[in-house]
Amino acid sequence: MRDQHLYWLPFLAQDVPAELTDPIQVARFELDLALPQLAPELQVYLAPDADADEGFSILRNDNGVTISGGPRGILYGAYKLLMALAAGESLPRSHSQQPKYALRMINCWDNADGDIERGYSGRSLFFESGRFDYDPIRLRQLGRLMASVGLNVLCINNVNVRNPAHRLIEDWLPELADVAAIFRPFGVKLMVSIDYSQPMRHGVTTADPLDPQVQAWWNRQCEVVYQAIPDLAGFLVKADSEHRPGPFTYGRNHAEGANMLARALKPHGGKLIWRCFVYNCQQDWRDAVTDRPMAAYQHYVYLDGQFDDNVILQVKNGPFDFQVREPVSPTLLAMPKTNLAIEWQLAQEYTGHQIDIYAMMGMWQEVMADLGSNTVMAMAAVSNLGNDDCITGHPFAAVNLFGYGLLAWNPDEADPESIARTWAKLTYRFGQADEDTLVNLLLESRGAYEKYTAPLGICWMVVPHEHYGPSPDGYEYQAWGTYHRANRDAIGIDRTASGTGYAEQYPAALRDRYSNLSTCPDELKLWFHRLRYDYVMPDGRTLIQRIYDDKFEGYAWVEEAEQKLSSLPLPEADRKLVMDRIARQKRNAREWRDVLNTFFYRLSGVEDARGRKIYD
Ligand code: GCU
Repeated sequence: MRDQHLYWLPFLAQDVPAELTDPIQVARFELDLALPQLAPELQVYLAPDADADEGFSILRNDNGVTISGGPRGILYGAYKLLMALAAGESLPRSHSQQPKYALRMINCWDNADGDIERGYSGRSLFFESGRFDYDPIRLRQLGRLMASVGLNVLCINNVNVRNPAHRLIEDWLPELADVAAIFRPFGVKLMVSIDYSQPMRHGVTTADPLDPQVQAWWNRQCEVVYQAIPDLAGFLVKADSEHRPGPFTYGRNHAEGANMLARALKPHGGKLIWRCFVYNCQQDWRDAVTDRPMAAYQHYVYLDGQFDDNVILQVKNGPFDFQVREPVSPTLLAMPKTNLAIEWQLAQEYTGHQIDIYAMMGMWQEVMADLGSNTVMAMAAVSNLGNDDCITGHPFAAVNLFGYGLLAWNPDEADPESIARTWAKLTYRFGQADEDTLVNLLLESRGAYEKYTAPLGICWMVVPHEHYGPSPDGYEYQAWGTYHRANRDAIGIDRTASGTGYAEQYPAALRDRYSNLSTCPDELKLWFHRLRYDYVMPDGRTLIQRIYDDKFEGYAWVEEAEQKLSSLPLPEADRKLVMDRIARQKRNAREWRDVLNTFFYRLSGVEDARGRKIYD
């Protein structure tokens, strides 16, 4: 089983014993396990500091190394030291770290039947056939992986809480408590997604947040829950979103809806994570006024300052839905009196299903650069994990989990190149040339995927529901608010002040950058503007030529990547997975190239200036 390889921790060949119950014990165990092979002479001392929490410092002197911090800090420091030794990095004599974000969460979209919504790595690690079913050894390995990159919260079930997953906080509490105990020594707290209408399964006739019976039900339920799991991180809620129940049914706004739950959690120290993925998913495609990306801002920004202090609004990184390229969500920049979490999606729903190589670091860096000053205090990411032998499906998808941990710990120190390089060093220990090949492939992978799929910020030209492979009009006449409105002359939606006005939701600098065609980045030009195919791009090519070129270049990159990968000395199990996937990626990229180019050629009648084959 690939777990013996333990991803970026291959120097930890043995499982963490079940008897270890706190992070300091785990830290000592890991050090004793790994130091004999990594640095046999090195003495490492642990100095617990009762006043510290997650931060740590590592001090080197002639006698050895001392790691000090709170229990979790010591564990993080131990992993930091071991990974630095394994990657051949030299640590400074004195080194301290504090996480920038208090909550660094993984959101699993696992259903109780064992299926994972948007899961591309097999079935659930936690559930099967409507009940808990897991391998404690694997869960300890997951806890270890999470702790090694500083992740501290795991939400165990899908935000779409499907029957019977609501029972997690009802009659499945003893089992949930057992799982919480497995993760606890790694400093990882559990969280659960709850169903807003849950009280109605228990004789309460409404889920109206202002009804005292509803508040009383949740208060009582939280007492029961926290008795079983005193350190539960809290609840995650998807309400009034894609047909989920929520406060709108009762004419209440989302501050009223969220605060009711937050008050039930408050006495126990729990947080309420409230997702802002709220939009009209029953739009008429003929309606050109409603503009879906504007929805979250419209639903939430006017409520700034009205949320209780243990509410965190969780906002997707972009205003649509985890597309290949989106501008930062304006909601993240517009709520100075509200706790916010940014939500990423490690699961490659729209980005290649963990078949295509897609390293996300470049996207994180862009979004973080545009965040500026804000009230983001937590990070969440939809999990890319499952129970396949390789728990991220594609072995290279592990770089996204690894990098996300570093990003959530401190985005200022998580640049794409160093994430890719450290991950590659730890995972494969190749020679320099092969390492460079892999690192470059990872760093280029997003740009390549972007080139062969929907052009310049258009998004959504994807097979509906499945979200793998091309379908240029697949979402065009549907109710999801995802339109490109291509005709024979032009494509895109004007989202500036002269169009839907979406760009006006940004602070002035970003609004101006995106509204002005000359400063709007090429990759977002069709996100913000409607352009004719003969529009001349800054590099002198027409828009249609740029589209054609991108498709050919994107495909060519995959062909070359296949060649390069075939000569990498990957371990056999990984090699098989990687080569199988790159062959599928090549078929996918070819399909995208030819379907999209043909679609635009048939619409526009414009020939490729370089005379390449486009199907008529
Ligand atoms: C997307 C995805 C759904 C998911 C939703 C969400 O729409 O396709 O499967 O439930 O995002 O984030 O809630």
